[in-house]
Amino acid sequence: MLLNEQKINEYLQKARFTEPLTWHILSSIDSTNRYLKDLPSQPIVTICCAETQTHGRGRLQRSWFSPAAENIYCSIRWPFPNDLKALAPFSLVTTLAIVDTLAFFNLHEDLTIKWPNDLFWQDKKLCGILLETVTQNPDHLDLIIGIGLNVNTDSTSQPITPDTPSKPWCSLYDITHHAWDRNPVIARLIINLYQCVSKFVAQGFEPFMQQWSSLDYLYGKTVTITQGQQIIRGIAQGINLQGELLLMDGNGQQCTIAGGEASVAF
Ligand code: BTN
Repeated sequence: MLLNEQKINEYLQKARFTEPLTWHILSSIDSTNRYLKDLPSQPIVTICCAETQTHGRGRLQRSWFSPAAENIYCSIRWPFPNDLKALAPFSLVTTLAIVDTLAFFNLHEDLTIKWPNDLFWQDKKLCGILLETVTQNPDHLDLIIGIGLNVNTDSTSQPITPDTPSKPWCSLYDITHHAWDRNPVIARLIINLYQCVSKFVAQGFEPFMQQWSSLDYLYGKTVTITQGQQIIRGIAQGINLQGELLLMDGNGQQCTIAGGEASVAF
């Protein structure tokens, strides 16, 4: 089934979700993040979903594989008071909203999160998140949360994606062996994102810490963090309340890592 705004709204109504939203459901666009970024700011949350992206964007200048009418390519533009520091763990909170969404559809098993926000199933990437910001004026910013969730693509038909040849990936189809209607998944994703964002704005990251730690893919593993030309190696020891990765180096010193690409060292 194709993406359908009316259907998504029916699922939202059934769940008694009443927050005002503006939808842009497109058949093709270069990138849903780029599309929202170039819109004028609105006081309410704006969502763009597309059947395909011709230049889907991933983290670290990668591209995001976006075959038509199969997966979820969804960006949400969220107006916020400008406090970037407090927003730092936001991408981790978004990942937990996706975990909650999958749990709603009875998918709990074998899910892990690779810091900062890759969702894995059995060591294969199921979902990626790209966060961007648009600053309107000194005390206001819009956050753009881009979510790429692999839903119906059979990964055996495309075992490697052009931009990340060494990274295995998977889809909901691979996990459940049946095709999914994406409309109820998008509706539930928005509901869970609202719940998680409200909790985060009110209480910070603390209430999420236990759930995140229970899903931490890197915990206890020897990892390398690539930050541009710099490579840092150590044993992952979880995260702190700022969403930073804690790493113990070879001298037994703990350091905090705010950004970069983490990979498990073998
Ligand atoms: C990653 O590298 O893991 C992040 C991938 C994010 C992909 C999504 S798909 C919807 C949105 N639009 C984009 O161009 N990228 C994000």
